[in-house]
Amino acid sequence: MSAITVRVPAKVNLQLAVGPLREDGYHDLVNVFHAVSLFDEVTAAEPFDVNPSAAPLGIRVEGDLAGEVPVNDDNLAVRAARALADRTGRSYRADLLIRKSIPVAGGMAGGSADAAAALVACNELWGLGLPREDLMEIAADIGSDVPFALLGGTAVGTGRGERLAPLETAGVFHWVFALADGGLSTPRVYGECDRLREEAGVAAPTPAVSEALLAALREGDVRALGQALSNDLQPAALALRPSLANTLAAGREHGALGALVSGSGPTCAFLAESAERAHELAALIKDVDGCRSVVTASGPVPGATVAG
Ligand code: C5P
Repeated sequence: MSAITVRVPAKVNLQLAVGPLREDGYHDLVNVFHAVSLFDEVTAAEPFDVNPSAAPLGIRVEGDLAGEVPVNDDNLAVRAARALADRTGRSYRADLLIRKSIPVAGGMAGGSADAAAALVACNELWGLGLPREDLMEIAADIGSDVPFALLGGTAVGTGRGERLAPLETAGVFHWVFALADGGLSTPRVYGECDRLREEAGVAAPTPAVSEALLAALREGDVRALGQALSNDLQPAALALRPSLANTLAAGREHGALGALVSGSGPTCAFLAESAERAHELAALIKDVDGCRSVVTASGPVPGATVAG
């Protein structure tokens, strides 16, 4: 096979409970991930340039958001492909092409999704046949959100978010995402969360999964799910980007069943009662100040999957 394309979803956090800062610079989390139908595509192809002095891993990015993505060795997809090749102890080559639809630095794990897709695509292209468990291990070394992009569905992540247990859910949930201009740096948002807690004299709680959230997911109860959504990083994201408060308020006013910042933001997520209500809500919030564009999506959807 000379090219493999993998489709990979964005995530929204249904609950993000942030515990204390650990010695390794990460925070202990309870992170309920939910994969939604907003996809990037990553193609891994045998390179045309067989010049042995050329870089073993080429990278290109296409799409409206392409300009914001690093096209060097810092790109998470390149790092993932390199980690996979290193694991085999052999030198492999590939040209990676990312078609971006997931917001960049938007709190929807777009970079992590591309890394997961690159792992699956290069595993196929190079004929390695590594099982998913091995890809999951490599994924966890690349970033806390990468294993979930492989798994998809709805799952609870513990540790720094990389230890996953799939969750039982019923039905389909409909979402609107309000994309903001520019991204937010994840480490900066976690740092602001710590700072706000210190300023308020509040100790970081031990994170625990919300039983109300688990019940809502199990029963497919969209209203209860809307009530149970929570994100401990939201006050920090709002402190760094105050305009997000308007976006959230607009969604609530127009009937969203739940409204929250997605992960470290600045994308805002709104839960709607139906696909039709999601489209209506999208039309109503698209002109709010600070909102660059809106998209609708549904979840849960599968993780990184070979598309061709
Ligand atoms: O794992 P990843 O590289 O995606 O994390 C990016 C940054 O987000 C980390 O460097 C850290 O600042 C923050 N983070 C954290 N606790 C976690 C996950 C991420 O503090 N559990």
